[in-house]
Amino acid sequence: MQAPTYERDFYADDFILDPAPYYAEMRALGPVIWLPQQNAYAVARHAEVVEVLQRVKTFISGRGISVSEDVNKLLVGSTVNSDGDAHRRSRSITATPLMPKNIEPLEDYIRLAAQSLADRLVEKQEFDGVSEFAQILPYSIVIDLIGLNDSGRENMLKWAAATFDLMDGHNARSKKAFEDLVELRAYLDKYGQAKYLKEGGLARRIFDLAPENGFTEEEAAQLMRDYIAPSLDTTIAATGYIPYFFAHNPQQWEYLQNNPELVPNAVEEIVRLVSPIRSFARYINEDTSLSGVDLPDGGRIMVVYGAANRDERVFENPDKFDITRKVRKHVGFGFGVHTCMGLHLARREMVNLIEAMRTRVKCWHIAGETERAMNNSIHAFGKLPVRVEPL
Ligand code: HEM
Repeated sequence: MQAPTYERDFYADDFILDPAPYYAEMRALGPVIWLPQQNAYAVARHAEVVEVLQRVKTFISGRGISVSEDVNKLLVGSTVNSDGDAHRRSRSITATPLMPKNIEPLEDYIRLAAQSLADRLVEKQEFDGVSEFAQILPYSIVIDLIGLNDSGRENMLKWAAATFDLMDGHNARSKKAFEDLVELRAYLDKYGQAKYLKEGGLARRIFDLAPENGFTEEEAAQLMRDYIAPSLDTTIAATGYIPYFFAHNPQQWEYLQNNPELVPNAVEEIVRLVSPIRSFARYINEDTSLSGVDLPDGGRIMVVYGAANRDERVFENPDKFDITRKVRKHVGFGFGVHTCMGLHLARREMVNLIEAMRTRVKCWHIAGETERAMNNSIHAFGKLPVRVEPL
């Protein structure tokens, strides 16, 4: 069977501005669809997304996870763009410092940072939900806990955004990202040495673990990408939706105030609905079929996490924000061997932030015009004027 064609450009502005209706069209069209604009197949339903992520020998990451071959040439070799032994080797180094037992000692830092941010914002009452709220914790964690050299501080957000903008490979956002990422490589070449990293930080641990696993210092420096690019925009995108969802669902905020044990579930529900990473792709490594659709060796297939997370076959009333729903099956952090290695850290950041606001804020309001962050892969606000009423 041939895949039905979906003509829209996944990376066009209108798609980025409000992807949910397009995700619904993609799911409705079939289990596997063909996107001529991306020259790639796509899966948008939950079952096929999970299947593609599970069949790691057929749908591989080691030839890059972009739909653009130019971009893939640049990415291949990093943890997320690798398979099998190479993937296990680099993941064993960078994932270890992010395991729950290793981030537990950071809990106090994260909690205090969240509380002092909440104090400041509740005092102000009006603030920007992105630059003054969502960006603060992920950013200070990269600099302080991961312990990168301060000289990249002002560029870190630009580099993180560029990594995700790159994915399309052809539009203007993507072309600009190529230039920004040359700078990131130069920064890592220079400052990605143990002597420039903060003592006791997570990045420094890469250099302790790397030699035992047969990595050179230069390779270890490039592994630090695992902590920069994927950790910032993703967490910022999800956190930026905290004010938005609770301003639009005041009864859910009220419910959370009396049921604090639901805070971790609220975080998962936010990640499900936002799906900060809209999609990554896989390379089709052999002729195969998926849900009856023939797929050719050498093709590309996009895995649309954002669409799968709103699949009505799995989530009842999927567009509704509901902090009590059973949300365990969401794929906002991916699925299978490439599941997000930073998810424990991201969850700790968001749980602590919601908890700090829960005990200080009576209700949330959106206080002006909101703006999207125009990024090819990340779904996020760029501007979100917020007003809170203190408890
Ligand atoms: C809400 C926040 C986050 C979201 C939604 C998110 C989402 C994801 C997703 C969907 C994947 C799967 C990629 C694939 O299937 O190819 C992934 C992988 C990854 N994430 Fe996250 N992420 C978040 C936070 C973080 C943080 C804080 C870090 C680092 C400190 C991080 C580091 C990584 C890395 C290194 C991978 C690649 C893992 C591998 O290939 O084995 N992420 N993330």
